[in-house]
Amino acid sequence: MKACALFAGIGGLELGLHQHGVTTIATCERDPHAQRVLAQHFPGVDESQRHGDIQGMAALPPCDVLTAGFPCTDLSMAGPRTGITGARSGLVTRLFALLEQAQRAGRQPRWLLIENVPYMLGLQHGQAMRYLTGRLEALGWRWAYRVVDARAFGVPQRRLRVILLASPQHDPRPALLGEDATPMVDDRPQQPLAQVGYGFYWTEGRRGLGWVVDGVPTIKAGSGWGIPSPPGIWDRPAGRIGLPHIRDLERLQGFPPGYTEPALGVDTRGRGARYRMLGNAVCVPMAAWAAERMMADTTDAWPQGGPVATGRSWPKAAWGAPGQAPRSAPVSSWPRTPVPRALLDFLQHPLEPLSLRAATGYLGRLERAEKIFIPPDFLAAVQAHRQRLATSTLDAQSRP
Ligand SMILES: C[S@@+](CC[C@H](N)C(=O)[O-])C[C@H]1O[C@@H](n2cnc3c(N)ncnc32)[C@H](O)[C@@H]1O
Repeated sequence: MKACALFAGIGGLELGLHQHGVTTIATCERDPHAQRVLAQHFPGVDESQRHGDIQGMAALPPCDVLTAGFPCTDLSMAGPRTGITGARSGLVTRLFALLEQAQRAGRQPRWLLIENVPYMLGLQHGQAMRYLTGRLEALGWRWAYRVVDARAFGVPQRRLRVILLASPQHDPRPALLGEDATPMVDDRPQQPLAQVGYGFYWTEGRRGLGWVVDGVPTIKAGSGWGIPSPPGIWDRPAGRIGLPHIRDLERLQGFPPGYTEPALGVDTRGRGARYRMLGNAVCVPMAAWAAERMMADTTDAWPQGGPVATGRSWPKAAWGAPGQAPRSAPVSSWPRTPVPRALLDFLQHPLEPLSLRAATGYLGRLERAEKIFIPPDFLAAVQAHRQRLATSTLDAQSRP
């Protein structure tokens, strides 16, 4: 099978597809840093099929699978929340224009694989999903989607994402909805709580912590301040507060370590670009799961839910087809039970200590926090970390 990747980013979806025998033959990605990463890792894509801005892409090449992790900027809680008609997320209209054109030419793909943020299910009373499913049904396609958690695929990162599969000829329901972790996953750590690591957003702290026990919160393209930054980690047994190494961040997204290094060769903004691209990427094992299910041609049964109410938030999983009212599917966000991966065992590099400046700012926000529970041991650990840094800075200054 051959795939064409729209909004390819660094190819998280494509790496997942490759693991199940699908070859990428075309990419469309505007960002020069991401283009450099794609060129390094997908050398088989012909130069004529490396497209830049989707607005200049004339037609889809003949392919079996079309991937489109279209921009979530206007659909995320952290963004302007302008919705599916926003300047960036609205680029998805180009996807449908290209699909309609391929259909007219009699060479539409067999599968479409979309990934985006779950916040879009509720934003503006579910307008984004109404738009996406309406356009798919107008093409005569069947569709199914489901919110899944990256932790279900063996990485210690809490990352919930909507995976949508659609097809003009296949039934996407058995693939996407026909597998569920049974019994329900118990995501509590295997070790005593004093022995595990904790993830948090060090750039936040007033209204939320982003707290994850034995994992990191969603790796994001940008923090609340707009700058890309990794989440913080509290190594509780060692009493350290720091940031994961970029190579561990790559692994937490399922990429091989060093995967985004080619971005450094583009310009001086390459370092920040690596964080941004990783935050934007689809977690590879999540993509691999979708690819495996899609390729398996399974006939697994899926649980039946009720009709989806219009004008409201969409459920966590649903399906539909032309001429049929959408229906929900009562499945969990853990399609499988993973081999548990303890965060601190997963990391291969020492944490980079949170700087004195960052720790001071973070403590200030924690002290002004509104209506959030801050574990007292954690607060004490951040205070101790800051104190250690302040003392060692003073020591260094007083040295002759
Ligand atoms: C959510 S990311 C996609 C992640 C990707 N699917 C992956 O697996 O790594 C969205 C991507 O769309 C790209 N993009 C935004 N506007 C674009 C445009 N006009 N043409 C092509 N790509 C664009 C962004 O640079 C970004 O890499």
